[in-house]
Formats: sequence, C-alpha cells, structure tokens
Amino acid sequence: MSSVELSDLIPNNVGLSADRRLQRALERWQPRFIDWWKSRGPAEHQDHDVYLRTATSVGQDGWAHFDYVKMPDYRWGIFLAEPQPDRTIGFGDRRGQPVWQEVPGELRSDLRRLIVVQGDTEPASVEQQRHLCRTAPSMYDLRNLFQINVEEARHLWAMVYLLHAYFGRDGRDEADMLLERRSGSADNPRILGAFNEPTPDWLSFFFFTYFTDRDGKFQLASLAESGFDPLARTCQFMLREEAHHMFVGAGGIGRVVQRTVDLMRRHDTADVAPHGGINVDTLQRYLNLHYSVSLDLFGAETSTNAANYFAAGMKGRFGESERHDDHRLQGSVTEVPALEGEAVISREVPALTALNATLRADYVTDCQKGLERWNRTLESVSARLELPHLGFNRAVGVFGGASITPEGRLTSQEQWEAGRSSWLPNENDREHVRSLMTPVNAPGHMAAWIAPPAAGIHQKPVEFEYVRL
Ligand SMILES: [Fe+2]
Ligand SMILES: [Fe+2]
Repeated sequence: MSSVELSDLIPNNVGLSADRRLQRALERWQPRFIDWWKSRGPAEHQDHDVYLRTATSVGQDGWAHFDYVKMPDYRWGIFLAEPQPDRTIGFGDRRGQPVWQEVPGELRSDLRRLIVVQGDTEPASVEQQRHLCRTAPSMYDLRNLFQINVEEARHLWAMVYLLHAYFGRDGRDEADMLLERRSGSADNPRILGAFNEPTPDWLSFFFFTYFTDRDGKFQLASLAESGFDPLARTCQFMLREEAHHMFVGAGGIGRVVQRTVDLMRRHDTADVAPHGGINVDTLQRYLNLHYSVSLDLFGAETSTNAANYFAAGMKGRFGESERHDDHRLQGSVTEVPALEGEAVISREVPALTALNATLRADYVTDCQKGLERWNRTLESVSARLELPHLGFNRAVGVFGGASITPEGRLTSQEQWEAGRSSWLPNENDREHVRSLMTPVNAPGHMAAWIAPPAAGIHQKPVEFEYVRL
C-alpha cells in the first residue's frame, strides 16, 4: 500500500500525511493488523454490512459518524483530543512544569511499559469476544458487540501510534508483539490475568463490559492526566468511545434483570430457569466472578511503581484536577485494607504508595451505581444483587490467595472450596446459560432471556436492520 493510500485510509489528526517515518512504520504494521483482525477478530459476519460508528475527526460532528461498513473496511483512525494550550503537569513532583511533547529520556521505559500494558488489553478483549457473534440475543446486540470490537481495535491503533511515533525501534517491536500475544495462550498470553479469561457467553460479555471495561475507564482516566501530552490526549479521546462499552454492559445486565423479574412475577417463582430466564443467584455468581477478577487489574494495594509513576508525572489519579489536596502527596497518609490474623483490618500507609488502592476505591464506587439501578428493578420481587467483599476470590495484592467469603469472612481453604459453587458460576449455571445461547437474527426480535432495550442506536428503532445478513 502506498503512503498516499495509507493516510487516506487512516483518518487522523496527527499529521500523518507529512510524517514519512510514521507512514513507513504503519505501512509495515497495517497489513499485520488486518491479518490479525481477520484471524482473531469476529469469527463471522466479516463480509456483512454493519451499522457502525466511525470516528473521522475529533470535532463534535466528526467523532461519531454512523453508516454501514464491512468490518475489515472499518477506518481505524488515530485521534488525539485537541491540545490544551500551555498545559502544565497537574500532579507529582513536577507539578506546574510544562507537559512533555517528547518522551523524557529517564522515563522512557516506564512510559513505554504503561502504553504497552494498556495497549495489550485492547486486542485481548477482541480475541476474548471472537465467538460471541454466533450467539447474539438480537441483531441490536450483535451490532453493539461489533462496535465494541472495532473500537477496541482502534484503541490498539491509538497505543501503536504512540509506540511508533515516540519510541523508535523498541516501540515498533512492542507494536508487533501486541499482535503476537494471544488471549488465553499458554505460550504467549496477554499481559493481564482478566484478559486471558474466556468470554464464553453473552452473560459473561455483559458482565465483562460492565466491570472490566470500567477498569479500562479508570486506567484511561488516570493516563489522561499524564504529563506526556500525546498520551494524555490519546486517552481523553479513547474515553469517549469507552462510555459506549460500559453502556452495553450496564444496559445488557439491566435487560437481563428486567426479564428475570418479569418471569418471576408471571410464574410466581424465584426459579425462572425452566421458563427460559436466568435466576438472580446465577446473576450474582457471574457478578462475583467478573468483579473479583477486575479488581485484580488494579494491582497490589501498595506499590512503589505506582508511587513513582505519580511522583514523576506519568500517571495521575482519577479526576486529579477535581481533588482538593496538594496533588503531590508528599507526607500524606491513607488507609488501605490489610489482613491481621483472622480479621480484615485497615492500616495507614503513605498515600503515594497507595495509589492503586485509591484508584480501585473510586472504581468500586462507580461499580455500585449500576447495582443500585438493577436493585430498583429487583425490589418488586424482593431480590437484590450485591458487590462481594473486596477480598473475595482475589489473586493479587493483600487478599491474593486468602480464603474470604463474599461477606468478607476469613475461612479455611476447605470451607472456601466447599462454598465455591454457591459463590462463583457453577456447572449448572454454565450449562443453563449455554443452553440459552441460540442466535436471534430477525430485526427487532430478542432471545427469551433478555428484555428489549428501551431505544435503538443513533435514534434508529430497535427493529432497525443493524446488520445486513
Ligand atoms: Fe479499549
Ligand atoms: Fe472498552
């Protein structure tokens, strides 16, 4: 592909047509990306027209352009949010200094690592969701899956742009490796645990987009504060797209809950499985799983890496500028959870080292909001969904490997194993959910386990032909 075609093909606001070096790097990488997309992206419907949102510019009217497109022809663009003139670093030891337009030499490997870890999650989720297109509960949902898939792939582009444009040779190598690791592979897995878990069914998908994409929101929001301005602006733009992913999760679970409640009332029973619905206790077990593996993504409660990233101005806190403190945290303390004998306690640590726990606490508050909405629906049948205790089913940090119940009680490992099937999706749950996964393709029709959405996409009706099969 010639460079003229390339800058035509890739909508961007990074001056690609004038940047020969970046063109060369992308010319090499783009065909590999397309190979990856065709072999690891959606397993079907690659030749069908899908009603998708494409970002063609960063402006109000350009970032959400809707039209039919075949996914391999999607125009994966490179966009940075508009620059803020005279922007300064908002936190850490270098607070008040001008932001960096180039990578400071001493921060090069840390910044590259942050970008690679973020970048690795993007193709990973596409790989995890590869087979879901065979069992979509409606055409509306199928379209939303594909929208998420192309946007996660665009997020990969966003991180690859940074690697190519700012990190030279090792950046190009890292960009290649982002296409080589595979979700769930024994030999060459994705970097973070939750991105190696399968997403085998649509219930898992909705919980994944609710809990795991929300982790993405918090990571992106703290990188959007970065003193490395191109990274900050890239992440700001990505956050716009991320909102839709979480909407798919929150809306999807909300619709499942609605259907469950309708069936419970109609048949006057809590066991709606024989009537083609999903029981509240099954929903709770899926929730417990996806919430706990997503908490692991925040890393250990205390971390000198996190302290260094903050002090050096690389990664801020969620909503950094709205916080009422000195934004340096030298000498500040905060509480983090800890285990002492049989008890979960809290202990005081330097706030700088506890930034992972701080970000996680903000995340938990955000997760709670969806539950409140679902619980309003569940009220009429006197049922509830709850977030399990922070320490439940954890592999990372102070609770890693500890046997803690969803209520937060420390037990023996044997007792925990005995409780496992009532706390985490068990074979019956999986089997039942699997049995519900038959595709519904006619426009406007819904699988029996999920209620229709309140509205369609982009002011189109729910029964719009979102995918031309
Ligand atoms: Fe993403
Ligand atoms: Fe996402």
